[in-house]
Amino acid sequence: MDPEVLKQAPLFRGLEDDAVAALSAAMGTVKLARGEVLFHEGDSEDRLYVVVSGKIKLGRSGSAGRENLLAVLGPGQMFGELSVFDPGPRSTTATAVTPSELRVLEHDELNGWLTGNPEVAQGLLGQLAGRLRRANDVVADLVFSDVPGRVAKALLDLASRFGDRRDDGVHVHHDLTQEELAQLVGASRETVNKALADFAARGWIRLEPRSVTLLDVERVERRAR
Ligand code: CMP
Repeated sequence: MDPEVLKQAPLFRGLEDDAVAALSAAMGTVKLARGEVLFHEGDSEDRLYVVVSGKIKLGRSGSAGRENLLAVLGPGQMFGELSVFDPGPRSTTATAVTPSELRVLEHDELNGWLTGNPEVAQGLLGQLAGRLRRANDVVADLVFSDVPGRVAKALLDLASRFGDRRDDGVHVHHDLTQEELAQLVGASRETVNKALADFAARGWIRLEPRSVTLLDVERVERRAR
């Protein structure tokens, strides 16, 4: 299994190599096809997942059947920790955006590691704190930023994880449909498309199916502020 990807996950941060190997050996593997649902919002299940390859979207359904995407996770990112620490239903639906491979840790197994290794507890606390910070930012953006500002932010966030620097800019193969991008920004598809078309017309980005190239990162960053 790919220890380098696993070591990026907060669960493994601070662990010595032999502990990484032991924790990794305690985990199972899950493979998902594109579009396959791992769990649904409301399910009672309390395992912890680390993405090894592919992309997982975490969504919630709102009123009138509208979907909202809270995050799209890639290799080295972790999810499912809320039900571990606050036993209750899953807060989102997790769906594979592309064929994906995950590692999974059972609740009881994790508990043993939490009591025996303060590094594991610190890693998970770090993830929770980071999640709260980002959630606060998202709330502030919904109140204070316009849709183009939120689109710019979403593009930069996707670029930070899925971006690939090329001669003409940063190529971001996000694998999301226009509808999913809009769900991630929390606005209608029409408004998000308008913002993207405007950025493209200004020469800041180039739109491609399920990907985007940031041609002028600085301008996108300024628009995100
Ligand atoms: P849990 O509620 O067990 O299952 C769904 C998971 O989605 C949740 O744990 C978190 O790991 C993850 N999750 C929930 N909200 C967010 C968010 N705003 N950003 C990123 N991940 C989230």
